[in-house]
Amino acid sequence: MPYKILEKKEIAMRNIWYRIHAPHVAKKVQPGQFVIVRAFKNGERIPLTPVMWDRDEGWIVLITFIRGRTTMRMANELKPGDEILNIAGPLGNPAEMEKFGKILAIGAYTGIVEVYPIAKAWQELGNDVTTLHVTFEPMVVLKDELEEAVGRHILETVPIDPNLDFPTNMKNVTKRLTEKVRELLEKEEYDMVFMVGPAGDQRAVFNVVKEFGIPMKSDLHPIMVDGTGMCGACRVTVGGEVKFACIDGPEFDAYQVNWDELIARSGYYTDMEQRAMQEYMK
Ligand code: FES
Repeated sequence: MPYKILEKKEIAMRNIWYRIHAPHVAKKVQPGQFVIVRAFKNGERIPLTPVMWDRDEGWIVLITFIRGRTTMRMANELKPGDEILNIAGPLGNPAEMEKFGKILAIGAYTGIVEVYPIAKAWQELGNDVTTLHVTFEPMVVLKDELEEAVGRHILETVPIDPNLDFPTNMKNVTKRLTEKVRELLEKEEYDMVFMVGPAGDQRAVFNVVKEFGIPMKSDLHPIMVDGTGMCGACRVTVGGEVKFACIDGPEFDAYQVNWDELIARSGYYTDMEQRAMQEYMK
């Protein structure tokens, strides 16, 4: 039966690993693509990235970060042996697989799980890949896997402020991220920077990268609903044109992205999402 959960484990704070039987996805997925998961009847559709897969055995690994009602419900209510209602995909364009040279591939928070398959494939293609993961101390994931997959993996962690409600001290992560990127770009010559993470952090990193004039690709994840170019929810302005992240992306030239618009749109539903989560937790 498709979509049976074969394995589920908490691999770090708020980070849940699901290995799921999804043969049609496992057979075709390429690094950089995503799926839309509907875990529950009448439930929300959420985009997630296959992190690993086995084409012969027909499974994929998805890692969720608990940040809203659906990811929390999945963490609380699903167990191995249960079935996910539906997984659509693979969707989106695969990451460009070329010899770029020396690449800095950055993941902020759980963004690193999307970096992993792309960085691994780039390294296998003969690129020299450095991955940088910046996150809160208890949220480190895929450290061993990245150390094995790429030329060099750098991990930078920030403590969680015990006086604040997690995860509210995100500015400290942004600061560490931009400082480390600047340090690396000053010391070494990179041919390309790639990043996955919140739009605000991507823009902060882009502002550093552009000082050095290095090409940068950004994997964008605006709000998505259908994932097939029909609903318009994921629209972004790139190079002055309206694009849909789900069918034109998710990877775009960071120099062409309208970051202000993207960041403003990303926050539209934050209050509703928080209310939905609080109601669920009652
Ligand atoms: Fe609907 Fe992209 S998610 S158009």
